[in-house]
Amino acid sequence: MTTLDPAPIAPTLDVHLSDVDLRNALEHDVRTGLTADPKRLPPVYFYDDRGSRLFDEITRLPEYYPTRSERWILDTHAKDMAYLSDADTLVELGAGTCEKSRVLLDAMQATGRLARYIPLDVSDTTLWAAATALAEDYPGLVVSAVVGDFHRHLDQLPTGGCRLFAFLGGTIGNLDPAQRKRFLVDLDCVMDAGDRLLIGTDLVKDRGRLVDAYDDAAGVTAEFNRNVLHVLNRELGADFDPSQFEHVAKWNEDDQRIEMWLRAMSDQSVRMVDLDLDISFASGEEMLTEISTKFTPDALEAELEECGFVIDSMWASEGDEFLMTLCHPHC
Ligand code: SAH
Ligand code: AVI
Repeated sequence: MTTLDPAPIAPTLDVHLSDVDLRNALEHDVRTGLTADPKRLPPVYFYDDRGSRLFDEITRLPEYYPTRSERWILDTHAKDMAYLSDADTLVELGAGTCEKSRVLLDAMQATGRLARYIPLDVSDTTLWAAATALAEDYPGLVVSAVVGDFHRHLDQLPTGGCRLFAFLGGTIGNLDPAQRKRFLVDLDCVMDAGDRLLIGTDLVKDRGRLVDAYDDAAGVTAEFNRNVLHVLNRELGADFDPSQFEHVAKWNEDDQRIEMWLRAMSDQSVRMVDLDLDISFASGEEMLTEISTKFTPDALEAELEECGFVIDSMWASEGDEFLMTLCHPHC
């Protein structure tokens, strides 16, 4: 049984990232990151339109198991998740193409409570395309898309109703421990009593399987990694030669994370006109572009509890590759 009105409702787009905001953040991050040792860039700049398309391609690669594993958990347990959260609103952070969200939306619709979907992402084109398609496919669903940064705009999310916050795909693993702590504490502050958080995390496993997932044979992940250089060329008038940077994926045992680096294949001198900045790379020098932390269920539980969450339930995929955790704020 559904309480939804059968007429499609036009989605709305709330933009919290102005062009000036984006520009200031990009200039600050690039200047800071490229003058650090080792050089580094935040992963958020992968996701222009091309980067979002490349990520979508990654999710279908044979080596990239996380999307399929998480999808399996959702297909198998979304009904329990919907029942336990008893929410009428799905808020999705870093929603991307919103593909897996459909499984959750279907399960929430089956409870008869689903009323609203609030996807948030930095990538406005991808978000708008996904929001439009969803509004068509779920008549009666209010789709309120938010263009924003989950590090800065959690307090701008629409309130009201009983909300299930979803942070899928293992994206929390792209945050370092300090960022994760701040993010979870901020989230805990904006969540009301009765709201739930559903979080997807990749699990620690065989090193070879992990490295292959981030260094696929077809070279799609390599192109995704190098895409950040195209973004800097376009946005900052830089003159990186992406063909001179090699994709490197490493397992960092101490920090339990995959790291993606770009390694200069020869001495490189790069001018960034808009920043009035010249940067040199020695041949073989590596720049860190992404971390993807892998968890154990115990470590995740400890981290969530430290940030004020209480675990409701955990579901692992077949072969314990991926984990989904439902939890709620302590008070
Ligand atoms: N949740 C989807 C997409 C994961 S890809 C899935 O599970 O398949 C990561 C997504 O997070 C991308 O769509 C990217 O644009 C978005 N993203 C990355 N950093 C972000 C940030 N700081 N704030 C908001 N969205 C971000
Ligand atoms: C979005 N995020 C969870 C992906 C990951 O697996 O860390 C991004 C990615 N990077 C390379 N492949 C996929």
